[in-house]
Amino acid sequence: MSQWLTLSRAAHLLGVSRVALQKHIREGELRSFDGMVAADDLQRTWPELDLEASGSFEKTRAIREDAFAKRLRERFLPSQEALAQRLFAQGQELAELQRTLTRYHALFEALEARLAAAPAPAAGELLRLLDEGLAKALAAPAPGHDVAALDAMLRVMSAHITVRPSGHEFFVEGSQTLLKAALSAGLTPNYGCGNGVCGLCKARVVAGEVRAVAPSDYCFSEAERAQNHVLMCVCTALSSDLVLEVLEAGAPEDIPEQRVVAKVRSVDVLNDEVLRLHLQTPRSNRLRFLAGQRVTLGVGADLAGGSDLHAEYPVASCPCDDRNLIFHLGLADRRAASADFRQCVVDGRIKAGDDVSVWGPWGSFVLEKNSVRPVVFIAIDEGFAPVNSLIEHAIAVDAAESITLYWASSQPGGQYLPNQCRAWHEALDEFSYVPLTVAELPAVLAANSALPASDVYLAGAAEQVEPLATALLAAGVPPRQLHVEAF
Ligand code: FES
Repeated sequence: MSQWLTLSRAAHLLGVSRVALQKHIREGELRSFDGMVAADDLQRTWPELDLEASGSFEKTRAIREDAFAKRLRERFLPSQEALAQRLFAQGQELAELQRTLTRYHALFEALEARLAAAPAPAAGELLRLLDEGLAKALAAPAPGHDVAALDAMLRVMSAHITVRPSGHEFFVEGSQTLLKAALSAGLTPNYGCGNGVCGLCKARVVAGEVRAVAPSDYCFSEAERAQNHVLMCVCTALSSDLVLEVLEAGAPEDIPEQRVVAKVRSVDVLNDEVLRLHLQTPRSNRLRFLAGQRVTLGVGADLAGGSDLHAEYPVASCPCDDRNLIFHLGLADRRAASADFRQCVVDGRIKAGDDVSVWGPWGSFVLEKNSVRPVVFIAIDEGFAPVNSLIEHAIAVDAAESITLYWASSQPGGQYLPNQCRAWHEALDEFSYVPLTVAELPAVLAANSALPASDVYLAGAAEQVEPLATALLAAGVPPRQLHVEAF
């Protein structure tokens, strides 16, 4: 009998996306039952996990040691307490299995003795069949047993978290906090300070155990304590399986407006036209936002010269790293405030170490929730900034069947982060990157007959984006599947 694994655990174990597994299920290569897949099907579909040829034990051990060493190098090992707890749980499962086996063994021996004493020839034939069947079962490893062995290892090294009521799942590596792991997996839990003070990241532990890895000043009420409430920003998982009840943002309006003073970490030149501005928020006052949203950046008259200066920009970085906010300041953005803000940076009036106020987040250019349609991103010049944030988020949530990125530049070769896009293209099976010029874009899009069945995200300067949006609607992209961010 095969072992069954959840889709997300199988994807985590094999290092493939859930979308890739779903494709194999659709093609009939993997059996699926109630969101689970069979370990023996996984082993057949991914033959590199067929460890018999080179010696199962050695190869399993090599994989285990490699994973262990990698985690050690990356300081991603769970704490001793978590390791002990998870090994103890596995020991209990093993002991229960051994008890069951012992009972089966006793039953088998009793049956064998009765058959040996029964009159031949029918009893003799049954006895022979029983012995042969047992010898065969013991000679061959159970189907999918290597996958099961790796899964057992994974249960010790990483904790699997199921979120209620959304059903989202994520993994906690090492002693990561629950909040950090959830954000890295693209989830949008409620939180504020990230520091154990505000209490906004409260979650209820429905099953499993957690442990605090950082101090906290927040005081739970008696009722909260009785209901097993914990702070996600200071706790990690002790058990290998944890069920949490978590408040998640479902839409931009669920995220409150915030005001944060961040410091300029660096300014980099990406090409002749585009600068990268890196801001860092204080540890205890981070910015909560959804991928693809904008914020307002502000500096006082002392830096801007004359009067206060405010300009709106999309955040180019991922919400999973909420302390480090990246912005792309380019010439294609011709709004007066943006041009003035960029000039302050070019002139060195806004430089590393300076304070910049950040308000927001704004806008609804965010990923369609729960959609499994293919995703097409169309970025024009610095329209790549919000698209970059969305792509990182889409990769983290691993929900889209495929991702295509068209990055059109006004000048040939104007894509200012080409290596990053090529790296996505090479690393991800279902990711396509098409760099092109703005002049080439309409014809290339007209040739893509899959657009009406996709979620399309279009970002760039208003004068280029608006006619393109009209053309996409005329080409059959349903309005609810077309998301536009124009500046
Ligand atoms: S985010 Fe404020 S206590 Fe966790």
